[in-house]
Amino acid sequence: MLYFYRFLLLTATFALSANALANFTQPTESYKWPSQYVRTDQANLRVFVQGNGPAVVLIPSYGRDGGDDYNYFTNVLVDAGYLVLRPQPRGVLGSTGPMTNASLYDLAADIAQVIDTLAGGRAIVIGHAFGTFMAKVCSVLYPEKIPAIVVAAPGGVTIPANIASMPFIAGNTSLPLSQRLSALQTAFFAPGHDPHIWLDGWYPETLAMERAAIEAYGSLVPHWGGANTTQILEIIPDADPFQPEDEWNITSTWYSDRATSIVINDASHALFPEQGQAVVNAVLPFLKLQIATSYYSLGKVVIEWLIVFCTLFVYLFP
Ligand SMILES: *[C@@H]1O[C@H](CO)[C@@H](O)[C@H](O)[C@H]1NC(C)=O
Ligand SMILES: *[C@@H]1O[C@H](CO)[C@@H](O)[C@H](O)[C@H]1NC(C)=O
Ligand SMILES: *[C@@H]1O[C@H](CO)[C@@H](O)[C@H](O)[C@H]1NC(C)=O
Ligand SMILES: *[C@@H]1O[C@H](CO)[C@@H](O)[C@H](O)[C@H]1NC(C)=O
Ligand SMILES: *[C@@H]1O[C@H](CO)[C@@H](O)[C@H](O)[C@H]1NC(C)=O
Repeated sequence: MLYFYRFLLLTATFALSANALANFTQPTESYKWPSQYVRTDQANLRVFVQGNGPAVVLIPSYGRDGGDDYNYFTNVLVDAGYLVLRPQPRGVLGSTGPMTNASLYDLAADIAQVIDTLAGGRAIVIGHAFGTFMAKVCSVLYPEKIPAIVVAAPGGVTIPANIASMPFIAGNTSLPLSQRLSALQTAFFAPGHDPHIWLDGWYPETLAMERAAIEAYGSLVPHWGGANTTQILEIIPDADPFQPEDEWNITSTWYSDRATSIVINDASHALFPEQGQAVVNAVLPFLKLQIATSYYSLGKVVIEWLIVFCTLFVYLFP
């Protein structure tokens, strides 16, 4: 009996400390997207559901799906012990819902419902490009559900006018390829990175819906840092024309008590397909810190004290 207790304690101690990070080694093609559908007030969302552990919600860029661009990122996080949820926007890969007159509040409510249904009401939200607006607005509206956000390629507070229109050229599938490629190279891919991979993956109806939601919302500046307590990681691609160098680190300058900025070299606005490994290297330590310092720490402390207590008990009263 005594040995059994000791064995049990050893196993429990191991389980708590075994969160070393594994590497992603298989080609993305071999991965599927296990999905669940979540019914929200207005929509029916297809959510890619992978992994186990603390929940992370990934929100894709303007007018694009949350699939291929994020497979590598997702699989590394899954290997590192996270539950990765990829809700597909309305109009994308099986997600349905009203596509006109949808506000950012409506789209944020979709995300909140996903967090309630699949993540037990709490998650870290990672947004890419347009997805960073969603992450910010969601954390303002649902601070109790979203303690931390990652804003990857958030763009600057003011976006150069010639660049701001580029998504609507790159994502307009009725324009000539040459024109779309040129927009992709100018605004989304760093010099030397092949923009062809982003000719696919656009959903013009979703792009129009998201654009209308952004325009109706007005300035995001008051909500640039999410809610007052939101912990933020800002990831800045060094060649991102949406965020010129004079706007680097703006988030960590404005919210120095709770925001960190990291610059990734040789990347533009597309970022994830350009520098997947560097994005992972930036995000994993942030996630680990959030988990260690926020909502899982209490449960872990309780369990650790329980182990100490049981150990003493077993040794004192064999
Ligand atoms: C992950 O890959 C890097 C680079 O190839 C290597 O240095 C590191 O040891 C690997 N880590 C694990 C846990 O396999
Ligand atoms: C658009 O949404 C607003 C607010 O939700 C509503 O008042 C208005 O009637 C809607 N317009 C259309 C055309 O559906
Ligand atoms: C897409 O391009 C076509 C052809 O130039 C144009 O007629 C249409 O208005 C564009 N759509 C958007 C949403 O800009
Ligand atoms: C931040 O806190 C201030 C003062 O407590 C409050 O007035 C404001 O509404 C809060 N802002 C957000 C976005 O929660
Ligand atoms: C932005 O922050 C990074 C990381 O802290 C630092 O290396 C870089 O020099 C800063 N750049 C500017 C323009 O402030």
